[in-house]
Amino acid sequence: MDARKKENLGYKRAFLDLGKQPLANGFLKTEEEFGKEFFFNLGISFAEEVGLVTLSEYVDPPKMFHENYAYVASQSQTMKAHFKKLAEQLKSSFSLNSTSRVLEIGSNDGIFIGLFRDSVSTAVEPCGNFARLTEELGIKTFSEFWSKELSEKLVEERGRQDIIFAANCMCHIPSIVEAFEAVSAAISDEGVFIFEDPTLLHVLQRGSYDQFYDEHAHIFSLTALKQLLTIAGLKVFHVENLDVHGGSMRLYASKASSSHKINPSVDDQLLLEKFYGLGHFSTYEFFAEKVHASKRLLVKLISSVRDRGIPVVAYGATSKSTTVFNFCEIGSGEVECIFDTTPGKQGTFSPGVHIPVKEYTQEWFRHFPKTPFAFLGAWNFVNEIKSKEAAFLASEGAFFTHVPYVSIL
Ligand code: TMP
Repeated sequence: MDARKKENLGYKRAFLDLGKQPLANGFLKTEEEFGKEFFFNLGISFAEEVGLVTLSEYVDPPKMFHENYAYVASQSQTMKAHFKKLAEQLKSSFSLNSTSRVLEIGSNDGIFIGLFRDSVSTAVEPCGNFARLTEELGIKTFSEFWSKELSEKLVEERGRQDIIFAANCMCHIPSIVEAFEAVSAAISDEGVFIFEDPTLLHVLQRGSYDQFYDEHAHIFSLTALKQLLTIAGLKVFHVENLDVHGGSMRLYASKASSSHKINPSVDDQLLLEKFYGLGHFSTYEFFAEKVHASKRLLVKLISSVRDRGIPVVAYGATSKSTTVFNFCEIGSGEVECIFDTTPGKQGTFSPGVHIPVKEYTQEWFRHFPKTPFAFLGAWNFVNEIKSKEAAFLASEGAFFTHVPYVSIL
């Protein structure tokens, strides 16, 4: 299905062109695959009618979310602790028990829904590899994309839900209005829809343009979400800002007719977004100028480090770094290799620019005659990484980043 035919967001005004990009998680196993790689134009637009920042063109979801989907949520200790804390919070705040119906949309490997095995839990996970893992946890799993049809089937088979949860999933869905309508149809009268995704305010404040890639169809603001949820018959009653995934926002929503009282956090966030100018196109034009300046500075920094005979590598083969390397045209001529802890990425070539991805060992930097400088692909884990890499930093190594501006840490 062509995703573009299904969206309904009104006129979209482009403000940033991040150029020809591959799939952010499309790591290549062999050099023979180089010529067959899929590319699309990564343009970012502002849909003024609904206030949403969204890709100008979407990649069809089955191209990205399939049997070999690479992102494994449970690999991160930070994310495991994050979901455990949330599960405990929800159980006590909403008095959940063994008869409560809990649904997760985009369950990945069951990192969150696996904590609700003592409730009537259900998962939706289009990636077959992960759907099987959730099923193995004893959770009824629908291996399909979230849609109105699936929502109807789910209500018939599993009833209307008390809790619907989605983490880093709603921003993946091009036809977002339909997705929220499907939530509205599946939730009970007093049920709560909780979802969290990277947030626009953090992207603008941190200059983290690398949050834009194929899988992130939208980067949400509360201003946009309030409008989109209202169309779907839902209301937001509480908002929390989170530090995970480079800056995220968690929303609590329910049916517009429910008795949930709207918390002051909603107006506070809306005001903050208004002060930052999120409703004005000029805010995005200014951001685009900063992104182009960031590209020039990053390219300059890498070439001056290399001119001093210092090798340059990258740390963390992240989806975000795919955007940076392709936009800035940084390839294996500039960055020798990327070190990464994920076994599935090791021994591959990075998407588009084909930098070799190598196995992370504790003494990864000893592979070079001179201690390298390392581009921090996983900048959102900067504190965790800096404390883990004390030996690297002590041996004259340095990390550099583009967030919030191009600098050596
Ligand atoms: P993602 O941001 O696209 O989810 O990718 C994160 C990648 O970063 C993942 O492949 C693991 C890698 N990584 C490391 O190699 N070392 C680290 O210390 C951290 C935090 C992540």
